[in-house]
Amino acid sequence: MSNFEVIIYEKKDDVGYVTLNRPQALNAYNLQMRDELYQVLGAIKDDPEVKVAIFRGAGERAFCAGADLTEFLTAPSPVIARQVRWERDVWGLFLSITKPLIAAVHGYVLGDGLEIALCCDIRLASEDAQFGLPEVGLGIIPAAGGTQTLPRVIGRTKALEILLTGRWITAKEAHRLKLVNQVVTRPDLLPIAETLANKIKGYNLTAVSYAKQAITRGLDMSLEQGLELEAKLGACLKGGEPHG
Ligand code: COA
Repeated sequence: MSNFEVIIYEKKDDVGYVTLNRPQALNAYNLQMRDELYQVLGAIKDDPEVKVAIFRGAGERAFCAGADLTEFLTAPSPVIARQVRWERDVWGLFLSITKPLIAAVHGYVLGDGLEIALCCDIRLASEDAQFGLPEVGLGIIPAAGGTQTLPRVIGRTKALEILLTGRWITAKEAHRLKLVNQVVTRPDLLPIAETLANKIKGYNLTAVSYAKQAITRGLDMSLEQGLELEAKLGACLKGGEPHG
């Protein structure tokens, strides 16, 4: 178990568990959480003992209620607060991880919370989850990749609606929009995430990583380039080459 203050990072049986841990502030994402998350993501990326990671939120009420608004108030402007916040490329690091990442979210999943979930590959939501991007209403725009990741997951039409209106959506609607893979009861949330993690970690990890890359990188390519990528990764796998 790690010594972080606002994130709990644990490793158990080849699974990394990342828990956003500021329940008194609905796990709002502050600068300290950014710094700790950056270290945790680096550990997940590099540690051969971690084969899959699960992201969740501490407490009963939220996965994460977005950026810490109290830090906005101490900065000269929300825009400057945002610039300071993104000095480290947490999101680039997040999206560069080739291991499978599972988000198990409950309660408020707002702003950065939704964007963290969107950096994951599989999203499970409990029935009480509520999703939204409140940034435009605050005079800013998402800066954790949300403007790019949300439309790639749910399509342009609904992404624009959610972003421009700030409307929150329920777990049921999130499932209908394919924002989440599955909606489960709150007590089932972690056990189902663990069942998925255990299943995946039993497979050849290079194959898992290549499969993830073929889809995530391929989606940003033409079909022709994507097919080339698939063939290349498949050939590397047959040749037993290590992934990098
Ligand atoms: N930043 C900092 N603190 C936050 C926070 C945030 N984004 N979201 C919630 N908190 C804190 C509240 O200030 C409150 O602290 P307190 O008990 O010391 O007063 C505590 O978390 C509980 O939140 P509260 O607002 O009392 O709960 P609620 O059930 O009435 O409302 C929300 C929940 C999520 C609707 C409301 O907290 C909210 O709108 N939060 C901001 C969401 C947002 O705009 N995020 C930024 C996205 S960029």
